[in-house]
Amino acid sequence: MDKKKRAGEKASEFVQDGMVVGLGTGSTAYWATLKIGERVKNGLNIRAIPTSVSTAKLAAELGIPLIGFGEAETIDLTIDGADEIDPGLNLIKGGGGALLREKIVAQASREVIIVAEDTKRVEVLGAFQVPVEIVPFGWEVTLRRVNRLGGTAVLRSAGGQPFETDNGNWILDCDFGRIPDPATLHQALKMTTGAVETGIFPRGADRVVIATEAGVELLRREG
Ligand code: A5P
Repeated sequence: MDKKKRAGEKASEFVQDGMVVGLGTGSTAYWATLKIGERVKNGLNIRAIPTSVSTAKLAAELGIPLIGFGEAETIDLTIDGADEIDPGLNLIKGGGGALLREKIVAQASREVIIVAEDTKRVEVLGAFQVPVEIVPFGWEVTLRRVNRLGGTAVLRSAGGQPFETDNGNWILDCDFGRIPDPATLHQALKMTTGAVETGIFPRGADRVVIATEAGVELLRREG
């Protein structure tokens, strides 16, 4: 079985009747949403908050009831993907550009389960470039300020145009080399005017479902 599918489906088992569920974005979270949709068809009673327009569309097609934060103060469980995971369960996310909504949903969640293939596990974050969502106005000056923090930032593009997020913002993909202290870099980036959110999720997972060739491995954050 496809590793992403195995991780997503395993995580979907943590969803229980009556929960408010955060639905992640990306090709691994996709499988969790699909399985949740199947369970909803078979009578599972949940309400969900999606982390992107694309996930909202998928969930609606699957018949998963969607709500907004006006209808639920907290989310019981969110299942989402990641681009890198270190041993402290710090994450880099946002490869798909959904980082801002993903972080809003994660912060409102009692529990976050990350689903990923084993290739996403690293000793130190940083091989994957850190996505930073920025407002389009003055993007050049924001890029220069990010670079002053020690990075090399590139404006993400799609089809020859700046890639636009679901929030109408743009993304800088930033190479900082190895990131031994993700929380400090995240804070510094957040202090940069023009930067809306970063793809660094310090201690961002409560559990991780890692899919290997052989099966799945469950990791749990300590402390
Ligand atoms: C979306 O913006 C991301 O945070 C994804 O969750 C992340 O890029 C992982 O995606 P895949 O599961 O497709 O690798």
